[in-house]
Amino acid sequence: MPKYKFLQPYTFQNGVQIKNRIVIPPMTEASALQDGTISMDELHYFDLHTGGAGMFIIPVANVSANGKGFEGEFSVADDKFLPGLKKLSSTVKRNGTKAILQIFHAGRMSNSKILRGEPIVSASAVAAKRPNAETPEELTNEEIEQIIEDFGQATRRAIVAGFDGIELHGANTYLMQQFFSPHSNRRTDKWGGTVDKRMTFALEIIKKVNQVIKENASSPFIVGYRISPEEIEEPGIRIEDTLKFVEVLADQGIDYLHISMGNAWRTSLNNKDDNEPLIEKIKRQINGRLPLISVGSVETPQDAEKVMDAGIDFVALGRESLREPHWVQKVESGQEDAIRYTVALQDYPELGINPSFKEFLDMLHTDMHIVGQDVAKDDFKGHLGSLEGN
Ligand SMILES: Cc1cc2nc3c(=O)[nH]c(=O)nc-3n(C[C@H](O)[C@H](O)[C@H](O)COP(=O)(O)O)c2cc1C
Repeated sequence: MPKYKFLQPYTFQNGVQIKNRIVIPPMTEASALQDGTISMDELHYFDLHTGGAGMFIIPVANVSANGKGFEGEFSVADDKFLPGLKKLSSTVKRNGTKAILQIFHAGRMSNSKILRGEPIVSASAVAAKRPNAETPEELTNEEIEQIIEDFGQATRRAIVAGFDGIELHGANTYLMQQFFSPHSNRRTDKWGGTVDKRMTFALEIIKKVNQVIKENASSPFIVGYRISPEEIEEPGIRIEDTLKFVEVLADQGIDYLHISMGNAWRTSLNNKDDNEPLIEKIKRQINGRLPLISVGSVETPQDAEKVMDAGIDFVALGRESLREPHWVQKVESGQEDAIRYTVALQDYPELGINPSFKEFLDMLHTDMHIVGQDVAKDDFKGHLGSLEGN
């Protein structure tokens, strides 16, 4: 018997076995080529970080050309990306780690510069509440149907490219969430209005994806769904809406539900009097019908085990896995004392964090637990330069 519950395997209802309960959550490393092709830098990063966790959720790829959300994001919107995607899946699938590709459309969380002059789109023509947000164009019925088709085609490509599954990115305020949110979705047609109608887009995508899998996959293919449980916008998604949504999601033939939060034990952002962690509410609603992934500020084996003790099926380690690519291996081999919880900028090259990724982490103000911040910027560049042989 392993020392920790998180080292025990898990078998999905479709029969796929996951070697342990540790998940690498999707973390965009912003290093793809301009057209969305996977770069050698990215393959190097994934190569360094895979092999320990049961599931590695590969960061988000756009399903439609106008769904791109960041510079350096890789794309799954065209068959021309298949050679790179095949290399990506075979790099990540090592030591039994399952490679899951997260797919999305950024909707209004992009801008016309990233889309090279094309307008951003969303459920309704309402700008996001953030500085300099552009007002999106409201999608027509035909355009919505096309995006659903794009999710299907992206899934087909993920199957052809050899991934073990996909994760639908319904979280972090991107298009799938924009349709569910009463802030970004003011429609009164079949795609909006009541909370049930605001689920339509997500449910149609799941239907499409499941149909594509049935037609194209020769072995069980995992479908996960990531949600953000609340929004602070007024109007915005409240936990009561999310509980209704997960109740419906439990019956859609998906394999897991991933709850996106900065802290796994976060309580309501909107109701400060409620001290119950949101994950507990969601777990109660799901009532064992779907496995859950919890994420947010989990760093130590004890943090991870606490999630297991709460009856959550999987625990994801985001930033900690950037700092320590061998977290699982170190726990397995009894070297817990050697787990790295801080980094120096000089460690970045060794961690596969290239200058584009570093810039992205800085832009997000990511807390990387950096020590020795006073290191001269030029030293960092010099270090990278020497690694690259120039
Ligand atoms: C650099 C960076 C990039 C991220 N990119 C994505 C992404 O592509 N898709 C996504 O759903 N979440 C993304 N996230 C959120 C993480 O998946 C995770 O939920 C978050 O980092 C909290 O987990 P942690 O506290 O263990 O880091 C990103 C986070 C970071 C730090």
